[in-house]
Amino acid sequence: MDGRPRMGIIGVGWGARVQIPAFRAAGWDIVAICGRTPEKVQRIAAEHSIPHAFTDYRLLINLPQVDLVSIVTPPAWHKEMALAALAAGKHVLCEKPTALNAQEAREMWQAALVSDRIALIDHELRFLPTRRRMWEMIREGYLGTLYTVTYTYRSSFRRNPNRPWTWWSDAAQGGGILGALGSHMVDALRWWFGEITEVCGHLVTFIPERQDPKTGEKRPVTADDYAAFLARFGHDGYAEVSITAMALDTGQRVVAYGSEGVLILDEEERLWGTRYDERGPMHDFTVSNRHPAHPAGLPDTPFPMATVHLADALARALQGDDHALAGAATFEDGLHNQEVLDAIRQSHMTRQWQTV
Ligand SMILES: NC(=O)c1ccc[n+]([C@@H]2O[C@H](COP(=O)([O-])OP(=O)(O)OC[C@H]3O[C@@H](n4cnc5c(N)ncnc54)[C@H](OP(=O)(O)O)[C@@H]3O)[C@@H](O)[C@H]2O)c1
Repeated sequence: MDGRPRMGIIGVGWGARVQIPAFRAAGWDIVAICGRTPEKVQRIAAEHSIPHAFTDYRLLINLPQVDLVSIVTPPAWHKEMALAALAAGKHVLCEKPTALNAQEAREMWQAALVSDRIALIDHELRFLPTRRRMWEMIREGYLGTLYTVTYTYRSSFRRNPNRPWTWWSDAAQGGGILGALGSHMVDALRWWFGEITEVCGHLVTFIPERQDPKTGEKRPVTADDYAAFLARFGHDGYAEVSITAMALDTGQRVVAYGSEGVLILDEEERLWGTRYDERGPMHDFTVSNRHPAHPAGLPDTPFPMATVHLADALARALQGDDHALAGAATFEDGLHNQEVLDAIRQSHMTRQWQTV
C-alpha cells in the first residue's frame, strides 16, 4: 500500500488508553473510533483529533479509509465484529480472549481462512524482544527437553470490593481473570513450548457481589478472579499456572526447567538462564523491550511496550514486509487458546482432567 496505514478502533477503554498512542507512534493514522456512549466517544475523538466518532460499529467497519479494524470490545462482541470486518474486506486485530467459547473462535478462524486479510489476536507480548529471545533459545535447545514450567501472574485489580460490577464480573460476557490474563499465558505457553493436550483447572470468585453503578444494586459476580491449572504438553512436559487479581501487582514470572538447563523470565521481564553443567551466576539474556518509537506518556510496562512493537510490525506488513508478522498470534492460535480455556472451565466443573 501507498502512504500511512489507517486504522479504526472499536472500543475506547484499552483501545483509547493504549492503542491510540501506541499505533500513532508506530506510524498509523487513527481515522475512526467507536464506543457505545456518544459523549464519551466524541470527547475522546476530539482530544485525539480523530476525524470520525461512531456509536455503530458497522459505520466504522464500512468506512473506506479504514485499512485495519481493531476490536477492543468485551469478548461477547468479538465474533460478530470480526466476521463483519473480514466480510467488509478489512484487516483485523481482535482482542483476547478470542471469543466466548471455541465454537465462536472456530467460526472466526474459518472466516479468516477464506479471506486474504491479516487476522490476528492481540497477544502482543509475543512481540517483546526478550520474549522472542526466549522463544529462540528454546528452539535452539537451551533447555533440552522441557520437564516443567511454572507461570504465575500476580495483580491487584479485583481486590477492591468497591470496584463496580461491569462486563468483567460476568462470565456470560466473557469476564474473569482466566480469559483476561490466562488467555495471554496460555498463548505464551503454546508459543514457547507447543500444544497443550490436557488440563486440570480450578477457578475461584472471592468477591461474590459488586455494586452495579447503573442501578446502585448489588449483582452477583459470576466470573473468576483467581484461576489455577496444570497443563500437559504433547511432548510430556508439564505447566503449573496460577493467576490472581487479588494480590499485589508483582507481575508475571516464568520458570522453565528442562533436561539441560533452566530459563527464568522474571517480574521485570528480564531473562536469566543457566545450563546444569555450568558454574557461576546465571547469565542475563535480557534484550531491551522498549521500542525506539515508544511515546512519552505511555507506560513502560510489558503490554503497552509490546503494543508499540506489534503496531510497528502491522504497519510494516501492510507496507509489504512479508516477514513482519512472523510469530504473531493468528486466529488459528486464537482458536487453540480458546480450546484450552474451555477445557480448563470444563475441568473446573467436572473436577477432572480434561482433554483439550
Ligand atoms: N491485549 C491487552 O493487553 C488488553 C488489555 C486490556 C483489555 N484487553 C481486552 O480488550 C477488550 C476490552 O477491554 P477494556 O478493558 O478496554 O474494556 P472497557 O474499558 O470496558 O472498554 C470496552 C469498550 O467497548 C465499548 N463497547 C462495548 N460494546 C460495544 C458495542 N457493541 N459497540 C461499540 N463499542 C462497544 C465500550 O463503550 P462505552 O465506553 O461506551 O461503554 C468501551 O469503550 C477485552 O476483550 C479485553 O480483554 C486487552
